[in-house]
Amino acid sequence: MKDLIKRLVETYGPSGSEDQIRQVILEEVRPYVDETRADPLGNLIAVKHATKKNGGKKIMVAGHMDEIGVMVTHVDEKGFLRFGAIGGLSPTILLGERVVFADGTIGIVGAERIEDPKDLRLDKLFIDVGAKDKAQAEKVTGVGRSAGYFREFDDLGNRLVSKAMDDRVGCAVMIQAAKELKKSPNEAYFVFTVQEEVGLRGARTSAFAVDPDIGIALDVTRTGDTPKGLPMAVELGGGAAIKVKDSSLVAHPKVKDLMAQVAQADKIPYQFEVLEAGGTDAGAIHLSRAGVPSGTISIPTRYIHTPSEVVDYGDVQACVRLLKGILERQIDI
Ligand code: CO
Ligand code: ZN
Repeated sequence: MKDLIKRLVETYGPSGSEDQIRQVILEEVRPYVDETRADPLGNLIAVKHATKKNGGKKIMVAGHMDEIGVMVTHVDEKGFLRFGAIGGLSPTILLGERVVFADGTIGIVGAERIEDPKDLRLDKLFIDVGAKDKAQAEKVTGVGRSAGYFREFDDLGNRLVSKAMDDRVGCAVMIQAAKELKKSPNEAYFVFTVQEEVGLRGARTSAFAVDPDIGIALDVTRTGDTPKGLPMAVELGGGAAIKVKDSSLVAHPKVKDLMAQVAQADKIPYQFEVLEAGGTDAGAIHLSRAGVPSGTISIPTRYIHTPSEVVDYGDVQACVRLLKGILERQIDI
């Protein structure tokens, strides 16, 4: 599964520019499902039908395929680019990083001369694509073009590092669960959503179209296990995180309890998660139509929204087993 994660995280795909990553996910998931389609906003919907048709549920499983990034807002006479954020970006983390555009063009993030580091804001940064002037810079990196972090996947053994683990690792968990799922009474709709990082937008429309009985999002969550870090109960290596609450959702009690029961029955390591700031696609799914009982399986992740997001491979495998365990059961909600 590490090869799958590597392929997904290294692919380009800031919010609104998901064509390349959708193609990669389509190739990876198609062998394990019965139907695939892309919807009007670009969400990829992969359906695995029930193997016995009695009393099963329609379950929407959502993971977002977009990643955070930058969008060019202005090109100056010398060819330096100014940009705005796509999703949550920190100027201190961006400085000195490289970003990549859709065609593979690399840019370096530099900063104006600043006296006080506290003055480092996004509008003090620029991107240098090695152009000699404005005309050359505008060819492929003009106003409205998007770039994401440029960084390779690294395998540290139990720990895996890359940009865009948020949320390609969630997409990988879904593909792996689709692969391993052999018999199920439920209709599984694996939805690889667009534009989560700018406001859960793809999940909102795809949930309306799918009209599921139950919604489950797969996404990363923060941890509280680094030096003088956030006081939070989730830790890397502690197993799949079952969300109780974040800013977008209070998990439906029956969905949350189902997740914990499956984890206990299948001896899957798990931990409960309360995230004080942040949301997932489940925030949009549960408010669809007349309401959809929803929850989230989270992959504990350090350094979220940096080019070096770290997950534990054991946690990733626990999330696959938990998702598969839910999808193959007769569910009473
Ligand atoms: Co994110
Ligand atoms: Zn995410």
